[in-house]
Amino acid sequence: MAKVLVLKSSIMGDNSQTNRLIDAFLTQRAENGVQDEVIIRDLTTLNLPVLDAEIFHALRGAENVAAPIQEIIQLSDELIAELKATDLLLIGAPMYNLNVPTQLKNWFDLVARARHTFRYTETYPQGLVEGVKAIVMSSRGGIHVGQATDAVTPYLQSVLGLMGIHQVDFIYAEGLDMAALRADALKDAHLKAQQIAV
Ligand SMILES: Cc1cc2nc3c(=O)[nH]c(=O)nc-3n(C[C@H](O)[C@H](O)[C@H](O)COP(=O)(O)O)c2cc1C
Repeated sequence: MAKVLVLKSSIMGDNSQTNRLIDAFLTQRAENGVQDEVIIRDLTTLNLPVLDAEIFHALRGAENVAAPIQEIIQLSDELIAELKATDLLLIGAPMYNLNVPTQLKNWFDLVARARHTFRYTETYPQGLVEGVKAIVMSSRGGIHVGQATDAVTPYLQSVLGLMGIHQVDFIYAEGLDMAALRADALKDAHLKAQQIAV
């Protein structure tokens, strides 16, 4: 029984190509007989707070914080516990303005937390999240993989790696705003999502 944590971050809901890739992957896993315990977090409905100095200092252990900030720390604790209890982290990361959606960045800002998901050593930070692998689904209007315009891939590799998640696979659906490429790109991405659903 694998525990799967799904982070959806597209603002397009049911019309999201990224969410459709996630759903195709989960459906195929179920059809393959993989027994998953799935938690789906649609970050666009969670209304996670935007990091500011007060939240940052509280996340780092400041005392006597106001009640609303205390609630945010509790939320961070819960999100981190949920991540650490996961076997497979499935991230939907459509490209918006060359980067991940703000809602996904807000999740990482609460979860990438010193002494909880990574710790500083004398030479390098050490990840504290163990036994979690990740798959990222990322739809884009244009073509970006391997180019400087793709901030999604290096950011996710780095922030996941910081926390100790080094096994990360990416499935891209690129060129979705390009009429000549769209149909084949979607077909290809769905095929890949189904192939890795084992
Ligand atoms: C707010 C917004 C910003 C976007 N920015 C980019 C971009 O920088 N580069 C790109 O190739 N496509 C961009 N697109 C197109 C999306 O990446 C594309 O529509 C993709 O399918 C979105 O994934 P989704 O359907 O899962 O939301 C943008 C779309 C939106 C809505």
